Amino acid sequence: MSTEKILSRRALLGGLAIGALAAPFSARATQAMGPMKRLPPRWASPGFSPDVEIELVAAPASAQILAGATTNNVWRYAARLVKGPEGTLTRLNDSYLAELMRLRTGQKLRVTLRNALPEPNIAHWHGLHAPAEADGHPAYAIDPGESYVYEFEIRNRAGFYFFHPHTHEATATQVYRGLAGGIIVNDAEEDALGLPSGEYELPIVLQDRSFTDDNQLRYDVGMHERMIGFQGERILVNGKADYAQDVASRAYRLRILNASNARIYKLAWDDGSPITVLGVDGGLLEAPETKPYVMLAPGERLDVWADFSGRKAGSTVVLRSAAFAGAAPKMAERMQRMMGGGAGLPAGGDFPLFTLRVTRETTDSPALPKRLSKPHLPRLEEAANKNAPRPIAISEAPMAMLINGRPYAFDDWLPIEKIPLNTTQLFEIFHQHGGSHMGMGMSMGGGMGGMGMGGGMGMGMGMGMGMGMGGMMSMAHPIHLHGQQFAILSREPEMVDEEAYATVKDGFVMSGLKDTVPVFTGERLRIVKPFDDYAGSFMYHCHNLEHEDMGMMREFLVG
Ligand code: C2O
Ligand code: CU
Repeated sequence: MSTEKILSRRALLGGLAIGALAAPFSARATQAMGPMKRLPPRWASPGFSPDVEIELVAAPASAQILAGATTNNVWRYAARLVKGPEGTLTRLNDSYLAELMRLRTGQKLRVTLRNALPEPNIAHWHGLHAPAEADGHPAYAIDPGESYVYEFEIRNRAGFYFFHPHTHEATATQVYRGLAGGIIVNDAEEDALGLPSGEYELPIVLQDRSFTDDNQLRYDVGMHERMIGFQGERILVNGKADYAQDVASRAYRLRILNASNARIYKLAWDDGSPITVLGVDGGLLEAPETKPYVMLAPGERLDVWADFSGRKAGSTVVLRSAAFAGAAPKMAERMQRMMGGGAGLPAGGDFPLFTLRVTRETTDSPALPKRLSKPHLPRLEEAANKNAPRPIAISEAPMAMLINGRPYAFDDWLPIEKIPLNTTQLFEIFHQHGGSHMGMGMSMGGGMGGMGMGGGMGMGMGMGMGMGMGGMMSMAHPIHLHGQQFAILSREPEMVDEEAYATVKDGFVMSGLKDTVPVFTGERLRIVKPFDDYAGSFMYHCHNLEHEDMGMMREFLVG
């Protein structure tokens, strides 16, 4: 177990980077953000009486991930139930992931986080509507040996949420090490539907990782990988490689979470059948929807009805990630092709995720409900600024991943980032360089020779001729807003490359409540989001964690 403060090596493009010679963890070179303010830890308040109380210890651990040697450089959130209903915590697959938490709407939750890591840490409850001091702001990071007490009421409806670190400039490495866990919230509306539950409800946590020859986690991220975001060559499901699960010939409910640092998946059944979607980030849709495939970016969740009725024992079904364009800048995609793709799994590649093996035939399958729920979707008419959307402008340039023209800085709110409490707001999310003006293009002129310059890529201004609109640097970014869930009003392919866009455009679920949404190159999205109940500073950022750590993050001041 080493505590790595090794400076970054410069990775070459794609899979060329540095195999066994590399130190397992080399990242964290100079980054764009300044130092983080540190606020004092929070203690339990005597007036709060929790229904559920959990002790959560962040500590080094080891785990069986691959066949053979155990992986000894993982970090894990170990949860222990101090108070609350039996079944609140279940261990997922004996993996490095935290215990899965099962909570109910209306419960009061107290979590005491204890940091037994060699560096600061703080956990964020992704998708949960929590007060600012329970939201895992990096300013609340606690040092080794310290504790932090979260206390809040579960106000979210039934859905699949999760928690992970939000430590300043270390979210990517800490999540990568294994710090993450799922949270399933249930409520009465969902109970009444009788959806598949117990052994018929399968949590599926998707992550990708890279390993050394002796099965240790490797995170070797130079300039190029930070720009695209980490892409590992092994797909893990619930913390295991080559994941397979036995099922009966009946309907299942798959609760899928993309907890990868940066990889976007294009979920598709390998037999070509459509995906039946029950819900998204913030719970059930009004009615099931079918899609030929579904794009699932880091931070997003998908609730899937998977019916194996009529299948014979011995048959198998595979969920794949199908090929698509736009997960990496066009320039990188071209270079990857030129260089034969390198080792591993390129962003947007085609590969299996996991296998479901039908081992038991049965006829007791429930029917798919026609109606699922009545989500309270925020509406445009409720927005205080319905004629003047607030921008979330994505801009990307080497070493400058920005939102609204600025990198993250503590308490650095722009006027458009100050939001009156208990209002609903309209936002437009778009690529700043997605317009017809060239912005900053990448030079192809340097070719291979240019790749080593300046830490990975040759950079040129305005060299974008013939590269299509949107610039060669533009790529998809999963944008996540803390606090309450939002509704997507529109997704406009404003300046897209039609050929690339055709590989993703049928995979977006537009209905339902969201907290994270991928914005592909040239797209313009409009979303409506309420800011109720809690004043304070709430982050919004790219959930490509390498981008987040490079400063592609900002804050709203609500109050
Ligand atoms: Cu899941 Cu601010 O993150
Ligand atoms: Cu991003």
